[in-house]
Amino acid sequence: MSLTVETMDARERSAQKLQQLFGDGWPAFITADVVAKRYLGPVRELFADLELVLLEDGETPVAAGWAVPLRWNGDPAQLPGGYTDSLVRAVEGHDAGEPPDTLVVMAGQVHPERRGRGLAGELLTALRDPAARRGLPRVIAPVRPTLKSRYPLTPIERFASWTRADGLPLDPWLRTHARLGARMVALAPASQTMTGTVAQWEEWTGMRFPDDGAYVIPDGLSTLHIDHTADSGTYVEPNVWMQHREPAPGGRAQSSHVGPAGARRALKMGLPA
Ligand SMILES: CC(C)(COP(=O)(O)OP(=O)(O)OC[C@H]1O[C@@H](n2cnc3c(N)ncnc32)[C@H](O)[C@@H]1OP(=O)(O)O)[C@@H](O)C(=O)NCCC(=O)NCCS
Repeated sequence: MSLTVETMDARERSAQKLQQLFGDGWPAFITADVVAKRYLGPVRELFADLELVLLEDGETPVAAGWAVPLRWNGDPAQLPGGYTDSLVRAVEGHDAGEPPDTLVVMAGQVHPERRGRGLAGELLTALRDPAARRGLPRVIAPVRPTLKSRYPLTPIERFASWTRADGLPLDPWLRTHARLGARMVALAPASQTMTGTVAQWEEWTGMRFPDDGAYVIPDGLSTLHIDHTADSGTYVEPNVWMQHREPAPGGRAQSSHVGPAGARRALKMGLPA
């Protein structure tokens, strides 16, 4: 199998194949962040060159992800609040003519039938490559820890500190970043805020919320808070800020650790010029 990388807008793509890639992996409420919704349109237009797709045998999309550029001084205390704030800072920084110095890897997705084979690492490597080409010295990511949904009551600071016997994070997505040389630099306890009416939350989760209070919901990284008087449900999603090593000139930042899975990754990558 050979892998190539293209920008998502490089050519017309089969809607069916994209649906197969993106159709699974996200809870319905993931789109209920009203601020993110407002900024996603401009982001896709302004930074289309940072939305990438990995193709198998030059044709089938098997992974995709995207990033935004923004300005950050390297101080963890000055990081964006998380995912949503990164969108805001990227767009507003662009509009203000502020030269970016940081690439933020925002999201990644691997085809449901191709998971667990190291494609996520290939995707992350491709996503952070533009940093070197654009002369951006920093690469960061507000990582959505995928396993956190199994521990929605655990504070993010505890969850993020959990490691396996080999010292790598217990969470698989944090682990993929760590294996590529990234380190945790801060927590983003309120990376995204999703809001809706009680009826909307009942539809998104397939549950009923008879009382006010906190509920554990399917695929939630934290709990949902229901307020019947206000007819609202609020869910605040925690992420973890990871910082990758400074990109090598010309791209292909070096991985600092190649674990056993690295050996499995006998994948050939071909990058567009
Ligand atoms: C997160 C995601 C991109 C990882 O892709 P992937 O190709 O499976 O990742 P990898 O093959 O590098 O696997 C990383 C590790 O997770 C493990 N893993 C993969 N799928 C897993 C699963 N469903 N449950 C638990 N562990 C899993 C792998 O075994 C591997 O473990 P290792 O470190 O011991 O080798 C993919 O699961 C996905 O697209 N999820 C839906 C979208 C999403 O949540 N994106 C992340 C937030 S932006």
